Amino acid sequence: MATNDSLLTNIDHVAIAVYDIDAAVAYYDDTFGCTVTHRERIDSDGVEEVLIRVADSYIQLVTPTRDDSPVAKFLAKRGEGIHHVGYRVTSVAQALEQIKAQGHQVIDEVPRPGSRGTTVAFVHPKTAFGTLIELVEEGKASSSQPSR
Ligand code: CO
Repeated sequence: MATNDSLLTNIDHVAIAVYDIDAAVAYYDDTFGCTVTHRERIDSDGVEEVLIRVADSYIQLVTPTRDDSPVAKFLAKRGEGIHHVGYRVTSVAQALEQIKAQGHQVIDEVPRPGSRGTTVAFVHPKTAFGTLIELVEEGKASSSQPSR
């Protein structure tokens, strides 16, 4: 843990839901000179995602790969835009327990695998002031550096 008692050690990523991920990648490259660090299709979530590194954090572009994906539903309801914020934590399991103990709603009752070897869990926006929050723990084999 850090010297303060915050559960959050960094902003891991800001996730943006888009219809056309290649067009969004081209936009970030052409406009801001940002290039893709990581690209992955996550079939369990029905998404394809791209990570673009900015300093110690990422922009995550996410697009659905099937109609029943939660991101597809988000796009249909809200359109393109910020989907969730991912915060890095030392231990997702510990953070989840603490959040639940305080009576807040979570989406994932237990930690699960995320992209690029991370462990993640989602916290429900209902008791988080309207923001879907993702807790992100780096893989055990690596340091806390975001790039691999
Ligand atoms: Co995320």
